[in-house]
Amino acid sequence: MHIEIEELAKEFGTSRALHPVSLAAPSGALIALLGPSGSGKTTLLRILGGLEMPSSGRVRFDGQDATNMSVQDRRAGFVFQQYALFKHMTVFENIAYGLRARKRAERPTDAEIGRRVNRLLDLIQLPDIGTRYPSQLSGGQRQRVALARALAIEPRVLLLDEPFGALDAKVRKELRQGLRDIHDETGLTTIFVTHDQEEAMELADFVVVMSMGRIEQVGKPAEIRAKPASDFVRSFIM
Ligand SMILES: Nc1ncnc2c1ncn2[C@@H]1O[C@H](COP(=O)(O)OP(=O)(O)OP(=O)(O)O)[C@@H](O)[C@H]1O
Ligand SMILES: [Mg+2]
Repeated sequence: MHIEIEELAKEFGTSRALHPVSLAAPSGALIALLGPSGSGKTTLLRILGGLEMPSSGRVRFDGQDATNMSVQDRRAGFVFQQYALFKHMTVFENIAYGLRARKRAERPTDAEIGRRVNRLLDLIQLPDIGTRYPSQLSGGQRQRVALARALAIEPRVLLLDEPFGALDAKVRKELRQGLRDIHDETGLTTIFVTHDQEEAMELADFVVVMSMGRIEQVGKPAEIRAKPASDFVRSFIM
């Protein structure tokens, strides 16, 4: 699915989180929103997912106006920094949750849910942990389960907000590659928030550099490195 953002702005009371920003994300791309704290990354991601309404501007999914579309209809898969797994449910049930929550007519059979969950456990390379509880996993494993859970609903877009932010450098690197592999396998349009320039430059097809609610530059990592559009971008990617 390709995503277009037109002149999207967001105010919270009198403060502007997002000045009018425009952006086109091609179908299947892995895109990083990169910027310092407070630059508007999470706000933009939440608007895309339908968790926040913009003050003005439009969002389009495959050319269709999605600005007022419900969270359900957007079919976005979310992964946040804080593991949002259900503590009282096994890994299997956590991943199956979104499928079981569907209306009866759209709910897969138990056998089909089982197949899908097992396929996702393979995809995140944790085939044997279905019966464990989140408290019995490492931080990195929890984030992989969160990713599998987001993928279970067969989302049209994957939205990740600092998904590896709470992990140590080594695990971060492994998961970064894992995300790249899963992205390449699923072909899902993926938007990824980070304030880590190395992570953005290494992982993304396109990097969107943000500062103070504005988009400073959009480009491939090599283009941004070769030709930073402003002093801010130059210093931030160093
Ligand atoms: N619910 C809210 N109410 C009021 N102000 C908000 C709200 N959410 C965000 N803001 C403000 O909007 C601006 C952008 O915040 P946002 O969370 O999008 O930044 P961010 O780039 O994700 O930062 P971080 O890297 O710290 O997560 C900040 O100035 C923030 O204080
Ligand atoms: Mg944020």
